[in-house]
Amino acid sequence: MRIDIITILPELLSGPFDASILKRAQDKGLVEIHLHNLRDYSANKQKSVDDYAFGGGAGMVMSIEPIDACISALKKKRDYDEIIYMTPDGECLNQSISNQLSLKKNLILLAGHYKGVDERVRQHLITKEISIGDYVLSGGELAAAVVADSIIRLIPGVLNDETSALSDSFQDNLLAPPVYTRPAIYKDWKVPDLLRSGDLKKIELWRHEQSLERTKSRRPDLLKNNSN
Ligand code: 6GU
Repeated sequence: MRIDIITILPELLSGPFDASILKRAQDKGLVEIHLHNLRDYSANKQKSVDDYAFGGGAGMVMSIEPIDACISALKKKRDYDEIIYMTPDGECLNQSISNQLSLKKNLILLAGHYKGVDERVRQHLITKEISIGDYVLSGGELAAAVVADSIIRLIPGVLNDETSALSDSFQDNLLAPPVYTRPAIYKDWKVPDLLRSGDLKKIELWRHEQSLERTKSRRPDLLKNNSN
């Protein structure tokens, strides 16, 4: 898989991809991440990427020219499955969207800023719009990092057994069960006896019950339309 991220703040994004699982996925050749500085595609000498809004009002709007220049340059080199605009008014990210995107080959993520992008970018250049939740971020960069992380960890070979995505919260619309490690007794706080019994069948059942219980009390909305 290849992910191209278009941004005016590439320095905000280099960090997250340079550590841990996301770095290892790149080192193993399972994913390529390319950051593109939108200013490099600005045609004027001030290297501007935004302008005042038609009709007035406070706040700048990201111009269509540099965005089109960057996307066109990328599309000339390969076909893209989705060109995604990161915006708080997009479709809210969930595990199902991440699962679908993890099967794609080439993706572009466009990080928005200011008052957003010229609407013609959304009408003519973008194929999908994603938000990461009902709150406002200063820009789409951190949201793009979240989307990329959630996708990349699903690519076969990225996770080892220990971190397997199958037991993640949300993968089956259930929250993950509680986990414990040594010491078995800390102060007077005990690990449930069952987990130390060695009875794998009972442990599996217990974990499923705990998952259900947790989901019922914390996220009952997840239990609607599913068969657990
Ligand atoms: Cl994708 N961008 C911004 N600026 N804020 C957000 C968001 C995206 N998703 C949630 N809040």
